[in-house]
Amino acid sequence: MTLLIENVEKQYKVRASGLQINALNGISITLGKGSTLGIVGESGCGKSTLARVISGLEKPTSGGITWEGEGIVDKAKNHLRPKRSRVQLVFQDPYSSLNPRQQIGAAIAEVITVHKLRPKNAVSARVEELLSIVGLASDLQHRYPHQLSGGQRQRVSIARALAAEPDLLILDEPVSALDVSVRAEVMNLLIDLREKFNLTYIFISHDLGMIRYISDVIAVMYLGKVVEFGDWETIIEKPLHPYTRALINAMPDHSVIGNPETLSKTLQGEVPDPAHMPSGCAFHARCPIAVPACTTNTPVLLEMSSSHFVACPEVAR
Ligand SMILES: Nc1ncnc2c1ncn2[C@@H]1O[C@H](COP(=O)(O)OP(=O)(O)OP(=O)(O)O)[C@@H](O)[C@H]1O
Ligand SMILES: [Mg+2]
Repeated sequence: MTLLIENVEKQYKVRASGLQINALNGISITLGKGSTLGIVGESGCGKSTLARVISGLEKPTSGGITWEGEGIVDKAKNHLRPKRSRVQLVFQDPYSSLNPRQQIGAAIAEVITVHKLRPKNAVSARVEELLSIVGLASDLQHRYPHQLSGGQRQRVSIARALAAEPDLLILDEPVSALDVSVRAEVMNLLIDLREKFNLTYIFISHDLGMIRYISDVIAVMYLGKVVEFGDWETIIEKPLHPYTRALINAMPDHSVIGNPETLSKTLQGEVPDPAHMPSGCAFHARCPIAVPACTTNTPVLLEMSSSHFVACPEVAR
């Protein structure tokens, strides 16, 4: 396995309120090279936090992450050792990740020089090459982010990520902010790039159509935990966890996952506050099949087959 995430936790202390937000509560995932992992779950379940922690942008409170045997986070010392050039993160909003006062060519060149990936005299040719790889004309390099369309800006963010020559790309809602007409183009670009550069992807989206299009395995998250994990086909055909079932039932057209309106028809209640984690299974208060033990026993992922895991002893029987 290439990516190994072991029991990762992330807590945020909010000073103003004195509360502790439990954003990730023991995430363990393994992912093979060249695979695409789709991550789904309602807003606030910890998807972006997990993306930041895997990319090395933030340090987990505990747990370990290795990528091809090298620690992104050194488990023993638990200090941050970012492999920024091997693991890259693309955000939903390219505006927030691009400097408004920097021409996009310079923004791409900066990544190449920071990682010392080309000699000085070869940087500008590499910038042109990267622009062409993401389908942008080379004369765009002198523009500022605000002089580009949303789709072009996201292509620049992708070029900037590729400039670091990563082998793992984490895509956090990369097309959600784009016009519907541009989404398919950017999705197809991502699929082409994956082939061309033999990339491994982690793809986060609310849109199950997009997840289905690009992923081969999926992880369903609830309150900072993975409740179901496995092959996309298996899970969509035979979802086992009551939460996954509710998510899938809530979108008959397989469109937006975690849509609060449709979800409220299949699930009672609200997602609990991550500052006040429920005991036992975090889903128990909303679960249609909960038994008394669910309020005290914390479920672990149980292996149903080599490609299907579920964190619910009630359905695993
Ligand atoms: N820096 C922070 N300080 C305090 N709490 C935070 C911080 N970042 C995230 N959180 C909290 O951690 C939880 C998980 O947030 P996260 O952004 O990872 O969710 P998400 O699944 O990406 O949601 P969305 O689908 O809306 O993007 C939320 O309760 C959020 O409020
Ligand atoms: Mg998010």
